[in-house]
Amino acid sequence: MNKNNLNKFTELVKKYKIIYFDNNWKISFPSENFIKYPYKLKNEEVILSFTNNIYIVYNTKTKLVKCFFNNDIDYVQSEYFINDFTINNGYIDYCLKYVILNKVRLSNCLILGLGIGNIPNALIQKFNSKINLIDCVEINKTLCIIYETFFNISKKIKIYNEKAEIFILNKSKLYDYMFIDIPCFVITNKFMKNIYKISKKNCIIQINLIGVGINKIDFNKIFRDFIIITRKIIDENNIYIITK
Ligand SMILES: C[S@@+](CC[C@H](N)C(=O)[O-])C[C@H]1O[C@@H](n2cnc3c(N)ncnc32)[C@H](O)[C@@H]1O
Repeated sequence: MNKNNLNKFTELVKKYKIIYFDNNWKISFPSENFIKYPYKLKNEEVILSFTNNIYIVYNTKTKLVKCFFNNDIDYVQSEYFINDFTINNGYIDYCLKYVILNKVRLSNCLILGLGIGNIPNALIQKFNSKINLIDCVEINKTLCIIYETFFNISKKIKIYNEKAEIFILNKSKLYDYMFIDIPCFVITNKFMKNIYKISKKNCIIQINLIGVGINKIDFNKIFRDFIIITRKIIDENNIYIITK
């Protein structure tokens, strides 16, 4: 595991309490908008604001890093302790435990929806020698840059700034493991047909379903080409684990 980027991050947050990056990725003084930001910083917390769209809050004592979007300040997109990516609560913990207990094959992995990369970093921390590559697809360009600059811990983790539904079209690569963590409206019949095409036999696919309209979608129907291994609700997350 290469920790160069994380070291860069911890050096930066030692120096400042509030860090604002402008559109050119230069550190500058907080803008007016930023000063109005509703998050109440605790004493030991540092906040990084990226072009006013994305906030990273880092707790210098606990080493917990959290990522928020400006338009949905109550929802944590991604969070982890930067000294141990495998300590989690909730759905990511559940999914990781499943991988460990069931000795899931992890040679070629695909993560759809990166956030700041809890899943890829936890997989590398725990299973580096079993992993050949982890392809991660993220729609948000700023997040891709943030992850590559500060949080990517391995050359095996490749980031693609693309819509997941486009990335999976006409791929010839086959995956052993997938983690799908994007809004549920993207996960349609057509989407799952394309997922089927890029899955190896016995591939384990973990899906976090969350978002508006979730109760109206019949996922048993959408996953009908797969075997549903288990389904569990954790907080507001509906987790399906399926296989081919
Ligand atoms: C809950 S976060 C993912 C957390 C992540 N799995 C982790 O390990 O920390 C959801 C992410 O999906 C991204 N996203 C939303 N729609 C997407 C799409 N159509 N394609 C790719 N990424 C998408 C969001 O920008 C956000 O970063």
